[in-house]
Amino acid sequence: MTAGHKIAGRAGPVAGPQAGAGGGTVPRHVAIIMDGNGRWALRRGMSRTRGHRHGMEAVRRIVREAGDLGIEYLSLYAFSSENWSRPAGEVRELMGLLKLFIRRDLAELHEANVRVRVIGRRDDLKPDIRRLIEESEALTAANSGLNLIVAFNYGAQDEITRAVQDLAGQVKEGTIDPAEITAAMISQRLDTAGVPNPDLLIRTSGERRLSNFLLWQCAYTEFVFVDELWPDFTGATLRAALEEYGGRERRFGGLAAKAAP
Ligand code: FPP
Repeated sequence: MTAGHKIAGRAGPVAGPQAGAGGGTVPRHVAIIMDGNGRWALRRGMSRTRGHRHGMEAVRRIVREAGDLGIEYLSLYAFSSENWSRPAGEVRELMGLLKLFIRRDLAELHEANVRVRVIGRRDDLKPDIRRLIEESEALTAANSGLNLIVAFNYGAQDEITRAVQDLAGQVKEGTIDPAEITAAMISQRLDTAGVPNPDLLIRTSGERRLSNFLLWQCAYTEFVFVDELWPDFTGATLRAALEEYGGRERRFGGLAAKAAP
């Protein structure tokens, strides 16, 4: 990690939504679709893979900033189950970046009390990547600061399908009555089990889609779309998105504004 570019972290857990510097509320869980690396690079005459490298520097900046702001959970969409259809070189680069991120930054994330969790399908990742993911989760499992959730080989439809398969297996065994299946039982079988739903989802690059990210979990999430391409995303962009979120009225299907359940 380069000097002067450290991933800082908060020392302890946060009990709930926090009063921000401007008096607004800091969301407990922020999810980000980090879009626009390719366009950022092509506009500068670089290869798309260079764009992803710069995107990773933005990841490091935002992890630090999220911890400083008192965000409890930060979920980042790093590689979707649909990204396998990209050119082989780009897929290789994205796999390499996850390895680089863990190898280079894990010790510092741990020191900063960050807990790392990787969501998505593991079985079609190479063994060395699976091992690194397991190592990063095991090393940081007891940390109580920022929860960093990296979605890698993740697709929400795939995640929900796996949960349904699990439930169907239990119905077949006779341990679950289909009429008694609840939304909570589905949530418990998702990769995000135990994680509160995102309060705020940010997508960069001006695109306004969910792209198979946290479909179940975003039922009542507030969306903020920003025009910046991901490599240009800074702490100031994050703080502006939080400010916009702070002005939203959340009703969760009811009539009066409520706090997240
Ligand atoms: C979307 O931009 C971005 C991705 C598919 C990859 C995101 C990956 C990173 C930010 C770096 C890796 C991070 C970690 C934590 C390992 P795009 O390529 O679709 O951009 P475009 O729409 O301009 O083509």
